[in-house]
Amino acid sequence: MEAVNGMFERTDVNREVFGAGENLLIQGDVRSLPKEISRLAGKVQCVYLDPPFMTGEKFTRTRPWGDRGWKKGTPLIRLPAYEDSAEDERAYLRLLRQMIRASKKLLCSRGVFYLHLDWRMSARARVICDQIFGRDQFLNEIIWGYESGGRSKKTFSRKHDTILMYAKTPDYKFDITRVPLERRAARKNHMARGMDEDGRMYSSIVTRGKEYRYYDDEPVYPGDVWTDISHLQQRDPERTGFTTQKPVKLLERLLLPVTAPGDLVADLCCGSGTTLAAAQQLGLRFAGMDLSAQAVSVALARLKADNLTVVCPGAPEAGRLLTREADGRFLMEGIETANSAFPANGTPADAVESWDTGRIENGCFIAERHYQRSSRYPELVTSLQAEPGEIRAVLVTDAAGGRRAYRRTGD
Ligand SMILES: C[S@@+](CC[C@H](N)C(=O)[O-])C[C@H]1O[C@@H](n2cnc3c(N)ncnc32)[C@H](O)[C@@H]1O
Repeated sequence: MEAVNGMFERTDVNREVFGAGENLLIQGDVRSLPKEISRLAGKVQCVYLDPPFMTGEKFTRTRPWGDRGWKKGTPLIRLPAYEDSAEDERAYLRLLRQMIRASKKLLCSRGVFYLHLDWRMSARARVICDQIFGRDQFLNEIIWGYESGGRSKKTFSRKHDTILMYAKTPDYKFDITRVPLERRAARKNHMARGMDEDGRMYSSIVTRGKEYRYYDDEPVYPGDVWTDISHLQQRDPERTGFTTQKPVKLLERLLLPVTAPGDLVADLCCGSGTTLAAAQQLGLRFAGMDLSAQAVSVALARLKADNLTVVCPGAPEAGRLLTREADGRFLMEGIETANSAFPANGTPADAVESWDTGRIENGCFIAERHYQRSSRYPELVTSLQAEPGEIRAVLVTDAAGGRRAYRRTGD
């Protein structure tokens, strides 16, 4: 057995490409839009924006630690994800304005914009959107109602978010038939019930002598108050541990009527990547960005890495890659890294969330194989049937989302 420890050296990469790399996930700031996003100007069919709400809170990401955590649900580690703490309202609105302007630039002529906020800033945001898009381009204000959270005794409990919807031009794309609801589930009312000669059940109402029938097997379409999509429950399998994660079902309802398969959607504050995951499921192309390295790491873990370009600032994290060769196999043993959030008794393998093998060309890591922990595959694959010489570069993401690339020395 020949030790190959020390055959890899740390190197900076500013881009990672998985598979064909058509979709984009980027760590970046809306205030200084990266070129990868700016070059999508005029090409995006839908932009969904779920920015900070000005809550003043610090949000976290909770995730399992190591093989045991992924298998049994504990131990968990909690990591800071982002701070929703603008200096003051002016600073917040300045940022929001920049975000809305950037979103409008990205949209194609038939494009649609959604801005997701709550009671704190939605009224002010509507005025800003009116200024940027034009009042005539306002399409609607969607109320997303939910039951989760505590109840107030001082006023009616605040139990909804507001999603503002604007079109870039009057010729926007919209097909409500793509989001049918079951009629029975959709509405209970005081109409008469009946069955026609073919055995089809219906509700009916007579107005000015005319009977209107609404068949149970015909779909109805959503209005602008949605109470049938709940917040993610504590144990929802969709949960990533990112505190402000939205449900995929909500994004599907927003995206479906305003897109057709193959269209490009963008989310400039993508957080845990809900929009991108929904887009991937619906056969849409996507571009997601977030300021937070944690967010990018969570989003990446959710997406199928076979068609993705990831752009992160040069991987600045320290950490020694531990590898060795055994019986013609390449063994990835983990990374030695210091992070106060990691349990002191953890192993170098526990510290790894995912790793990739590939090559490095012009500062770009091009992935060939991807190994990712998940609830389905809690144990990290550490052994590869490969000559050590075949592995030219390794990219490791640790449990805190820290990313580092290593190049084989001598390459
Ligand atoms: C409410 S969360 C988005 C949650 C997301 N929709 C989800 O389902 O997970 C807001 C996100 O905006 C990001 N953000 C805040 N300021 C930003 C900025 N200037 N540029 C890009 N992203 C920013 C935060 O890091 C955070 O992940």
